[in-house]
Amino acid sequence: MSEQHTTRSVSVIGLGPMGQAMVRAFLAAGFEVTVWNRSTAKIDAMVELGAKRAETVAAALDANEVTVLSLTHYAAMYDVLGQAADHLTGKVIANLSSDSPEKTRVGAGWVRSHGAQFISGGVMSAGDNLVHPASYIFYSGPREVFDAHAELLRPLSPQEYLGADDGLAQIYYQALLTIMHPWLIGFEQAIAVIERSGHDIDRFIPFAVRSNAAFPYFMAESTAAKKKAWLDLASLIMMDAGVQHVIDASEEVGVDATISHTAQAFWRKAIAASEQAGRVVSTREIIRGEKS
Ligand SMILES: NC(=O)c1ccc[n+]([C@@H]2O[C@H](COP(=O)([O-])OP(=O)(O)OC[C@H]3O[C@@H](n4cnc5c(N)ncnc54)[C@H](OP(=O)(O)O)[C@@H]3O)[C@@H](O)[C@H]2O)c1
Repeated sequence: MSEQHTTRSVSVIGLGPMGQAMVRAFLAAGFEVTVWNRSTAKIDAMVELGAKRAETVAAALDANEVTVLSLTHYAAMYDVLGQAADHLTGKVIANLSSDSPEKTRVGAGWVRSHGAQFISGGVMSAGDNLVHPASYIFYSGPREVFDAHAELLRPLSPQEYLGADDGLAQIYYQALLTIMHPWLIGFEQAIAVIERSGHDIDRFIPFAVRSNAAFPYFMAESTAAKKKAWLDLASLIMMDAGVQHVIDASEEVGVDATISHTAQAFWRKAIAASEQAGRVVSTREIIRGEKS
């Protein structure tokens, strides 16, 4: 019995570090990949790897049923697809660019108004390393569109389909980056303190990794039974005092402690609000604007 081989194919528009990683992942999976990018030097680099050049956005859309977008934001999607909006009918756009949930919903509506199907994604990767075991992609949008194209998109990373709301992938993606951004700045501050204090960060890093292992415990504790107030007043006061020591350790050696001052401001607001209300007011309530 002879086996029929059909080469799967896809277009990728947007060849920044992430778009390039996507092209490499598709090529590695044996796909025929057609690429377009605003600045052409990035196209040349992908063609050298085996991708096919599209001279125009229209040509990239025409080349395949599914086009993956990897752009800086949704504003870029209008700049790009606006060049060939009359080529969208009957196509499928998988926009894996980052933006706010609402901008994503509006963008989804714009694509559909031009006759294409739409699915959105948030690339929860370890940087642009799509093959890292921790990397995966959130998807949201119509279930039938995801189901129809999940297999095609699988080379990019493991998939987590979240639901029909076009903005949902971005809600989860941005929420996780909400944790990551202060973490990154805090990490920079920590290693600056180590170095400015005359020590080697290589000795410090394993301890940082080890203490990160406790973070899941804190996540579980702080959200158990959807508690409103995790810390009692004594604990809030302890956090205020504790972060002052971090600020001192940083500033004694000339390290910027802005992120620690910001954290301290939340605990101080919670303490003041608690004293005023005669009950524990959590930082969770402060952040949600339920008490200021
Ligand atoms: N890189 C990562 O590690 C990573 C990880 C997870 C998620 N993401 C997300 O994935 C998306 C792509 O990431 P990236 O790092 O590749 O982003 P990037 O460096 O900002 O590049 C994205 C692409 O957008 C294009 N672009 C931007 N504005 C444009 C416009 N007005 N018209 C036409 N093209 C435009 C750029 O074209 P030019 O080349 O012509 O400038 C480039 O090809 C972003 O939404 C990012 O947040 C990235």
